[in-house]
Amino acid sequence: MKRVTKAVFPAAGMGTRFLPATKANPKEMLPIVDKPLIQYAVEEAVSAGITDLIFIIGRTKRAIADHFDKAYELEVELETRGKLKALEELRNMLPSYVNCIYIRQAEALGLGHAVLCAEPAVNDEPFVVILADDLIDAEPGVTKQMCDQYDYYQSSIVGVQTVDPSETGSYGIVACEPMSDRLSRVIKIVEKPKPAEAPSNLAVVGRYVLTPRIFNQLRHIERGAGGELQLTDGIAGLLKEQQVLAYAFEGKRYDCGSKVGYLEATVEYAMKHPEVAEEFGNYLRNRFCGPCKNGQGTP
Ligand code: G1P
Repeated sequence: MKRVTKAVFPAAGMGTRFLPATKANPKEMLPIVDKPLIQYAVEEAVSAGITDLIFIIGRTKRAIADHFDKAYELEVELETRGKLKALEELRNMLPSYVNCIYIRQAEALGLGHAVLCAEPAVNDEPFVVILADDLIDAEPGVTKQMCDQYDYYQSSIVGVQTVDPSETGSYGIVACEPMSDRLSRVIKIVEKPKPAEAPSNLAVVGRYVLTPRIFNQLRHIERGAGGELQLTDGIAGLLKEQQVLAYAFEGKRYDCGSKVGYLEATVEYAMKHPEVAEEFGNYLRNRFCGPCKNGQGTP
C-alpha cells in the first residue's frame, strides 16, 4: 500500500480580490496574525506525514521560496540581538526531512493546469492538493483526516462541506450517494454551477487526495468555467474510470480568498493566539460591546 507523501500547493493565481496587497506577493503569503496562509497549509501537510512539498508558483515567484528558505542574515541578526525565541521558531519552521520543490506555472491557466504542472514531481503516486486560501481549523488537520481515509479506500477523495444554495456558483459542487457518516461516493461533479443548475449544495473546498490517473484527465480537459482549465473537470473525467469519494471533514473552514472570510479568520486566530488573545479580546469588547463591558449581555 502506498502512503501519501506528496502535497501540491497551487499558488500561482492572480489574487485579484486582494489587490493591491497581492500585486507583488501571492495571496498565499497573506498573514493570519503572524503566519502566512501557505505556512498553515504546509504545517497541516507535514502533520499528515507529507514529506515532499510541491509549490506551483507564478508571477510573484520569489516570495514563497524565500519564506521557506534558510535566512542566514536574519538568523545572525536575531542571535546578535538575543531574540532567541524568534530564532528558534524560524529554524524549526520546517522539519529537516522535508523537501521543497518549486515549479513555475508560466501562465495562470487555471487550477487544473496548475495541478498538471506538478506531474514531473509527483510521478506515479497519490498526492494531496491543498488550497492555502481555504484555511481549516481542525484537530487532527483535514489533510490527515483525508489521508487516513485514503489509506483505507485507496480512492481519490475531495473534501466537502454544505454551503448556502445561493453560493453554488463559487464552488465545485458534487452529487453523492451516502456511504457512511462522513463519506459518500461522488456521482457527479460540476464547477461553479448556478444555483438553479447545481446538483446539490455540497461544495468541494480546497482539499483533495488524488490518484495519479488525474494527470491523464488533466492533459485532455478543455477550458471550462471562467475560461480556465478546471481541476473539477479533470475529476469529472476521473469519475468515469475510478471511484471518487467525498469526505465531509471535521473542522471550521475560513474562505480566506474573500475579504470577509479572511477577516473572520484573523479575528478567530487572534483570539486563540497566546501572545495577543487577551489584549485583543479586551480591545474587541471595549470597542464593540459598549454596554456590556463587564462581559454581561450581548453586543
Ligand atoms: C477552486 C475550485 C473549486 C473549489 C474552490 C474551493 O475555486 O475550482 O472547485 O470549490 O476552489 O475553495 P476558486 O476558489 O479558486 O475559484
